[in-house]
Amino acid sequence: MPLKVLPCTTLDYPRSVEVERRAWAQGPFTKILFPGPFPEDMAELRAQEIAKQVEEDPTTRWLKVVDTDLFDPDKGIAFAKWHVYADQPANTGRSRSFGEGCNIEACEFVFGGVSKSRDSIIGGKNFVYLAILATDPDHQRRGAAGLLVKWGVEEAKRYNLPLYVESSEAGHELYKKYGFKDFELYEIDMSKWGIAQPHRSWGMVIETEAKAPLTVVTMDDSTVGATTVVQPMPR
Ligand SMILES: CC(C)(COP(=O)(O)OP(=O)(O)OC[C@H]1O[C@@H](n2cnc3c(N)ncnc32)[C@H](O)[C@@H]1OP(=O)(O)O)[C@@H](O)C(=O)NCCC(=O)NCCS
Repeated sequence: MPLKVLPCTTLDYPRSVEVERRAWAQGPFTKILFPGPFPEDMAELRAQEIAKQVEEDPTTRWLKVVDTDLFDPDKGIAFAKWHVYADQPANTGRSRSFGEGCNIEACEFVFGGVSKSRDSIIGGKNFVYLAILATDPDHQRRGAAGLLVKWGVEEAKRYNLPLYVESSEAGHELYKKYGFKDFELYEIDMSKWGIAQPHRSWGMVIETEAKAPLTVVTMDDSTVGATTVVQPMPR
């Protein structure tokens, strides 16, 4: 199983969208956050949006993992979007919008606070940031995502920059394996939508010795919703 990391071209973006959708479909919250129905051309529009983003933002590195033994050796089995903020500070100000098919209230609840916290941790600073990571469920636990995480860790070493990711439950062990440490826990009560299990994600970092240590950011309830718990992790 020779897995290889390659940069994506425009031809890869439709497959990247498909892999992301298939990977997240397994999650317990996806049906609540993205119940649909979605516009028929949504995947196509998203692929076009990715191409535009990559063209306009020189910090973006959209990568794929291929398996050269597969019938189609160019087909991505896992994808990552890294931002390398080496020459310019992180601009995390672009607000995420939730369109047709999304449960806007739930999405704001789950992603709104986390994105504010991200702004305060990496906004305006030089960082390497992992924004997207997904492996096709047919190819999970084969080391594909690990290769993509390792790529970013090595890139950060090359520039002597710290790294940041918001980890899902599924990614948590993976990031720990590559040296990320919990920085904050975001725990969101989803009982309003009939799920007893809280939605949990972690702000995780790898710091560099050369840089000043990060300061822990806490958020007040008024910004993120009364049932959101943002808990700085012991460090
Ligand atoms: C998280 C995800 C990207 C992992 O992809 P993957 O290609 O299967 O990961 P790897 O095979 O490289 O895993 C490497 C190691 O990470 C850990 N790991 C990966 N998936 C794990 C899981 N579901 N549970 C626990 N540990 C896991 C293991 O230590 C694994 O090593 P092992 O298989 O030798 O035990 C994939 O499960 C996915 O796409 N999930 C849905 C989307 C998501 O949560 N993305 C992360 C966003 S932050």
